[in-house]
Amino acid sequence: MRVVVTGGAGYIGSVVAAQLIAAGHEVTVIDDLSTGHADAVPAGARFVQTSITEIGDVLAAVPVDAVIHLAAKSLVGESVVEPAAYWRNNVVGTLAILDAMRAHGVPRIVFSSSAATYGDVTEQPIRETSAARPTSPYGATKLAVDLALTDYAHQYGLAAVSLRYFNVAGALLTERQNFGERHGTETHLIPNALLAAGGSGVTMKLFGTDYPTPDGTCVRDYIHVVDLAVAHLLALDVEPGHHIVNLGQGSGYSVRQVLDAVQDVTGLPVPIAEAPRRDGDPATLVASNEKALALLGWKPTLDLHAMVRDAWRFHQSQL
Ligand code: UFG
Repeated sequence: MRVVVTGGAGYIGSVVAAQLIAAGHEVTVIDDLSTGHADAVPAGARFVQTSITEIGDVLAAVPVDAVIHLAAKSLVGESVVEPAAYWRNNVVGTLAILDAMRAHGVPRIVFSSSAATYGDVTEQPIRETSAARPTSPYGATKLAVDLALTDYAHQYGLAAVSLRYFNVAGALLTERQNFGERHGTETHLIPNALLAAGGSGVTMKLFGTDYPTPDGTCVRDYIHVVDLAVAHLLALDVEPGHHIVNLGQGSGYSVRQVLDAVQDVTGLPVPIAEAPRRDGDPATLVASNEKALALLGWKPTLDLHAMVRDAWRFHQSQL
């Protein structure tokens, strides 16, 4: 297929684009490089540095079978401080993509939605039918797009898949290029723990030790970025309609369990400082991934150890 990947210079988008190329698809990456890196665009992809609002120019120039849309602002905390930027970029920007797709007859979209659409749910594991009550502007913008996709799919015959990612981790290391997390401000647990373990002199803050979980720290469902990317390729083959699909391992690990995995993999202690809870962090988020299996034939194959191992290799490759 001829596929446009928005955000293909970012962490997840670059892995998706690399896998598409490896599978023989023809890939155009569009990315404004506001948070992405030009050298993360995989070899073999055509790269257009532009905003998602200008995607019409790309779709007018070459026939396209599908858009995989990952370009977004994606920091929960920042979204609370700057909601306007999130609504404009994530919602208005995505509507521009959907309208350009209609204008140019592009029949399918795979959208990077998020577990943040669910908010603080009590039902665990979380199913796609669980109530979506986001607790941050970030989650609200992802839910708004999911709702729009339902209407666009229904009225305009689009094939649309919203992939609701849980906690993505790990890296893809190849002979030619390495793809991993390189965020300007790193907020995620595993890269921060690796940074602290790696002797950077940084102490990692452990946010909250009084949650109603077995060891008092938050429980999350971690998924390897390589497994996650595979689901995007499978999502290119669904029937028309809007399909919402959770992507997680289906099991949870506490922050302390992740820190243990980091110590196991690196052989180094992780200097931590216990800190108060971080605003907006739900105690537990674990996915039901039954629908991913039923609809896409997708199953996770890489465990937490593999995620930490690959993230560590990537971290070391950047030194
Ligand atoms: N944590 C720490 N110290 C850190 C970083 C994280 O203790 O330095 C803790 C957090 O408090 C949380 C857990 O580690 O309990 C995981 O935090 P992450 O920031 O790695 O991930 P989140 O669960 O907050 O966020 C992820 C995605 C978001 C998505 C959200 C949905 O990164 O994009 O899940 O809830 F919106």
